[in-house]
Amino acid sequence: MRLKDKVVIVTGGSRGIGLALVRRLLAEGAKVAFTGTRQESLDKAIAALGDSAANAKGYILDVAQSAACEAMVKQVITDLGAVHVLVNNAGITKDTLMMRMKEEDWDSVIDTNLKGAFNCLKAVTRPMMGQRWGRIINISSVVGLMGNAGQVNYAASKAGMLGMTKAAAKELASRNITVNAIAPGFIASDMTEVIAEEAKKAYLSAIPLNRFGTGDEIASAVVFLASDDSAYITGQTLNVDGGMVMQ
Ligand SMILES: NC(=O)c1ccc[n+]([C@@H]2O[C@H](COP(=O)([O-])OP(=O)(O)OC[C@H]3O[C@@H](n4cnc5c(N)ncnc54)[C@H](O)[C@@H]3O)[C@@H](O)[C@H]2O)c1
Repeated sequence: MRLKDKVVIVTGGSRGIGLALVRRLLAEGAKVAFTGTRQESLDKAIAALGDSAANAKGYILDVAQSAACEAMVKQVITDLGAVHVLVNNAGITKDTLMMRMKEEDWDSVIDTNLKGAFNCLKAVTRPMMGQRWGRIINISSVVGLMGNAGQVNYAASKAGMLGMTKAAAKELASRNITVNAIAPGFIASDMTEVIAEEAKKAYLSAIPLNRFGTGDEIASAVVFLASDDSAYITGQTLNVDGGMVMQ
């Protein structure tokens, strides 16, 4: 168990990649606080976790609301005693070609994916600085590195997370807090379920390992970046994408 008694917050942990992260973090001995936008989805996640849910607690949160993120982190510290690791996983897409993209499509994606990650990052900074230990992991995307037609809002939000990761890594390094990003490629999840078959085939042809990834494969990278095994790594982006992006 690489994360025994560490308290980890996973935003958007009620389903998809986030739920896979919660499951693995619990298996590594962590106490996990995860967020979702509705009580119903939190309850569903707790039921799906079975016995391991004893060390998990769900919180309703809209990451776009700064005060709500502060309040959630305070509540987690009251409930679980500390916050050692933050995984900024909550994210949405509102895909359409730029010409048709409405202002609210831009705003909601930036507010959730980029500002939401900042809100949670800011909220954990003070307690992590106080304990002189912390791990922050931002779930970005290959799209933030490569771009993708129909996703200017999403690409901007995910590229923004990479810049934020580097700046925060520099600010927090002296307090033994590392900040890294993971850029997943095409991961089978609820978010990707809605993509048309033709588009899925096109993505597959661009993946050297010739298959889509799993949430559990993102979880392996998260556990590594949350553990002492990555103590000398900060400000980096780990691509978990079957080779889609090679730098
Ligand atoms: N699935 C992929 O192929 C893929 C690829 C690259 C990156 N990602 C990123 O991984 C993360 C998880 O994606 P997924 O595929 O599991 O998506 P998903 O839609 O299955 O899950 C997204 C989660 O975010 C939460 N969420 C949405 N809006 C929120 C808000 N305003 N406040 C708080 N929580 C909110 C949802 O409740 C849900 O739990 C996202 O950041 C996504 O951009 C996914």
